[in-house]
Amino acid sequence: MTRVFSGVKPTGHLTLGNYLGAVRRWAEVDQHRTDALFCVVDLHALTVDHDPARVRRLSRQAATLLLASGLDPELCTVFVQSHVDEHARLSYLLECVATDGEARRMIQYKEKAARERERGGSVRLSLLTYPVLMAADILAYGADEVPVGDDQTQHVELTRDLAVRFNQRYGQTFVVPRATPPKVGARVMNLQDPTSKMGKTDDVGPGIVYLLDEPDVVRKKVMRAVTDSGRDVVYDREERPGLANLLEILAACTGGAPEDLSGVYESYGALKKDTAEAVVEVLRPVQEKHKELCADPSYVEGVLRLGAEKAREMARPRVDEAYRAIGLLAG
Ligand code: TRP
Repeated sequence: MTRVFSGVKPTGHLTLGNYLGAVRRWAEVDQHRTDALFCVVDLHALTVDHDPARVRRLSRQAATLLLASGLDPELCTVFVQSHVDEHARLSYLLECVATDGEARRMIQYKEKAARERERGGSVRLSLLTYPVLMAADILAYGADEVPVGDDQTQHVELTRDLAVRFNQRYGQTFVVPRATPPKVGARVMNLQDPTSKMGKTDDVGPGIVYLLDEPDVVRKKVMRAVTDSGRDVVYDREERPGLANLLEILAACTGGAPEDLSGVYESYGALKKDTAEAVVEVLRPVQEKHKELCADPSYVEGVLRLGAEKAREMARPRVDEAYRAIGLLAG
């Protein structure tokens, strides 16, 4: 059976972008079709300035939201990265396979490091080695597919290179995975800046809809979305990115295609209103389930404990094998 691995980084609250672009598909498709693991990658949240209590809180919230979004522990494995030592164990071995140059070529590292230096801050060494840890996440499980957005494809390419290199040098150990980008139209953009992705790092942006935003907050954010000075409501990703984003969100929420919504609306206002309501409806069951789960924290803890056990069992033999292959004395 195909094995899928993906991760959510607890550096911010999960957004509508995370949901429509990734998590919903994991719940509706991937967990049924494949042997899937979904991981709250908390070690990755330590690569930039962080507040320990906040990371802990966001990790618990992310795990709860994954379950609230429909990930079913009977069908897939949901767990927290730091609960499974194999990630860190394998990451070190892969640091002995990756090169310094390779790590420094990563676009995300270059951008984040530059931003940090501009602010006069220091760059953690773990920011540089981050993609190697990500490679360990994937390779430890022998994942075939990694559903991630385009901002992560370079990291998956590195993962492939490391797997191939390790296998060539030390013997066949790892599956060479591939990135499976989400379908077009599933890339939700920032409502205030429709040329950049609706990320979760920029924490209070008015252009970002969070999964736990109250209906009125959602309405306000959507109604204030940046559009353009045109009048007709047509779908044109290049020329009318703000409008296209709204049409895509609406289509993603109602199950249609944005092209089919072209010309349907008389005004931006009407489109925004329908989009806001569609988003509110999509978020409603997730929020209700989240509330239920929050009332029973021991259930979520139990799911994570079991998930970690399952994950450990899957990862350990392969990581042990890699230890032997690379020349470490079996313990
Ligand atoms: N780097 C990913 C992100 O920023 C998160 C991540 C960490 C991940 N490890 C992973 C994604 C392994 C897929 C597979 O979104």
